[in-house]
Amino acid sequence: MEGEPLSALCSPALVVDVDKVKRNAQRMIERWQKLGVQLRPHMKTHKTLECADIMTGGSRRCIVVSTLAEACFFADSGFDDILYAYCLPFDKVERCAALSERLELFQVLLDHRDALEQLRKRPLRDGRKWHVWLKVDCGNGRAGILHSEPEALRLAEAIAETDGVELTGVYAHCGNTYNCRGAEQIQAVAQETTHFTLQFMEKLKAVGVTCKSSIGSTPSCSHPVGDMAQLSEVHPGNYVFYDVQQSIIGSCSLEDVAVRVLTRVIGHCPHRNQLLVDCGWCGLSLDGAGKLPTGYAVIEGHPNLKLSSMTQEHGRVEPISGPLDYSKYPLGSLLTLIPYHACATAMMHPVYYIHSEGRLLGKWTPTRGW
Ligand SMILES: Cc1ncc(COP(=O)(O)O)c(C=O)c1O
Repeated sequence: MEGEPLSALCSPALVVDVDKVKRNAQRMIERWQKLGVQLRPHMKTHKTLECADIMTGGSRRCIVVSTLAEACFFADSGFDDILYAYCLPFDKVERCAALSERLELFQVLLDHRDALEQLRKRPLRDGRKWHVWLKVDCGNGRAGILHSEPEALRLAEAIAETDGVELTGVYAHCGNTYNCRGAEQIQAVAQETTHFTLQFMEKLKAVGVTCKSSIGSTPSCSHPVGDMAQLSEVHPGNYVFYDVQQSIIGSCSLEDVAVRVLTRVIGHCPHRNQLLVDCGWCGLSLDGAGKLPTGYAVIEGHPNLKLSSMTQEHGRVEPISGPLDYSKYPLGSLLTLIPYHACATAMMHPVYYIHSEGRLLGKWTPTRGW
């Protein structure tokens, strides 16, 4: 396989441009080094050891994961200082305890007293402490206790005061940057989240509690505001691949996107002015529904083509306007899809094919499950 062109692959196939991955990762590392803030990259987008090595600059330290399966996968390969940034699921306390007892630093996250009680009831062996981040909601509207609720401060104090538990940090995720268009809007949300987080840190300090702070998302960490330099950490993840969605938000340009799905023409349907391709919603996520004039993806080099619908293993492609010239798309010919959402699309592939300038270098195998 090594050295062969991408056209040697069976389709559908997820292909990753390793040069773009390295460039995206390096830019993020340098940006946060300059600002003096610890970058803790999120692994959720790719879930592979190779990409984690690139994102951590080879240190294999200081990562965020979204599932316990990821945490175990990285821990088993020598990664440490892992933050499981998902509100502590009660069915997984024992597995979290095992990781806390075997790693130098495994960290969990919670936003409710009942979760703290779960930790209190399961003290760690050898005098170890649970390392806990409090999840606060600074406007994202998903997990987290609202930063302005008096209970948020009380819960932080309760974590800090509980035996066998340490309040390691305050974690806010500004996923609401995904509604933005352009750097100015992104920075307004980044500023607001930073402000609320730092304000919360001040309130904590006033009651004698100090700990780390972390915010981030790919849009906000691609266009940081100056005040973010006052945070301890940031935790973006998608930036290593980027995708069409990020280019629309304004986090990157389409040229920065490191992933593609290769698909082949498997049918001509002149009665519908359509082509059939061998990529359905098992090879490309449905996330882009209704968001792009080109359908579920951007079809590279064919701005007049639209991936208009997908079933499990089939995609329907049609021109945005005019009749299809079938001679341009013979059966077996390749089309290259730039995914709307790289995280969701990568999730669907058991293996990623890595290339440099269109020549295959090897494969990365992601972990799966929860
Ligand atoms: C809790 C949490 N932290 C960090 C991230 C990384 O953000 P992004 O995907 O924008 O890089 C995510 C992404 O969904 C997340 O849910």
